[in-house]
Amino acid sequence: MPPVQRKKDTNSLSENYDSSRSSKNNVQKQKNITGFICLSILQVLLTFLIVNFATSYFVTETWFWGYEGKYTNWRNWVPRKEIIFSEAELAKYDGSDPNLPIYIAMNGEVFDVTPGKHYYGKGGGYNFFAGKDASRAYVTGCFETHLTHDLRGLTPQQLKDLENWATFYRDHHTYYKVGRVVHPPIDPKSPIPPPCNDASAQKSK
Ligand code: HEM
Repeated sequence: MPPVQRKKDTNSLSENYDSSRSSKNNVQKQKNITGFICLSILQVLLTFLIVNFATSYFVTETWFWGYEGKYTNWRNWVPRKEIIFSEAELAKYDGSDPNLPIYIAMNGEVFDVTPGKHYYGKGGGYNFFAGKDASRAYVTGCFETHLTHDLRGLTPQQLKDLENWATFYRDHHTYYKVGRVVHPPIDPKSPIPPPCNDASAQKSK
C-alpha cells in the first residue's frame, strides 16, 4: 500500500474518531440540558407546592384550604385488599374489645370508624351501629328494631338517604372502607320489619 494512501487512512480514522467523539459530546450536552430543565421544572413545582401548603396553613390553619375528605385521608392512598366478612366475623368489631378496630357496615360495605369511637365504641351514643350492617335503622331511625340490612319496603327517598350515608363514610377524612360483609339471603316470605313509632329520631344527614 503506498504511504500516501496510508496517511490518508490515518487521517480518515482520526476524523471519524473526532466526529464520533463530538457527536458523543453533543449527546451528553443534550442529556445535561434535558436533565437541567427537568430539575428546574421539579424545583418550580416543589416551591409552588410548599408555598401553596404554607399559605393554606397560614390562612385557614389547614394544609388543603379547608378541604377534608377522602383525598386527605392517607388510608385511601394505600392500596389494600378488600376483606370479606361473615356477619359473625363482623360482630367482633363492635367496640367491646379495645384492641380491635371498630367497623360498621352500610348496605354491605364495611368501614373502619375507629377514630369515631366516642360515637361507635363502648358507651358511645351510636354503639348499636358497630359490628353490624344496620342500614335500615340509618334511614328509619328505629335504633332498636331496625338494626338490619333488610331494605325491603323502604321508599325511594329512604334509599337515597341511605346512599348519602354510604357517601358520608366513603368520603370521610378519617374513616375508610375495609371490605364487604356477606349476608345470608333474606327469606322473601319473612315479614318486612314493621315501622317503629320513634319518628322523633328521624334526621336527614
Ligand atoms: C335517623 C336518625 C339518625 C341517625 C341515623 C343518626 C346517626 C348519626 C351518626 C352515625 C353519627 C356519627 C357521625 C360520625 O361518625 O361522625 C351521628 C352524630 C350525631 N348525631 Fe345523629 N343520627 C340521627 C338522628 C339524630 C338526632 C334526631 C339528633 C339530635 C336530636 C342527632 C344528633 C347527633 C349529634 C349531636 C351528633 C354528633 C355530631 C358531631 O359532633 O359532629 N342525631 N348521628
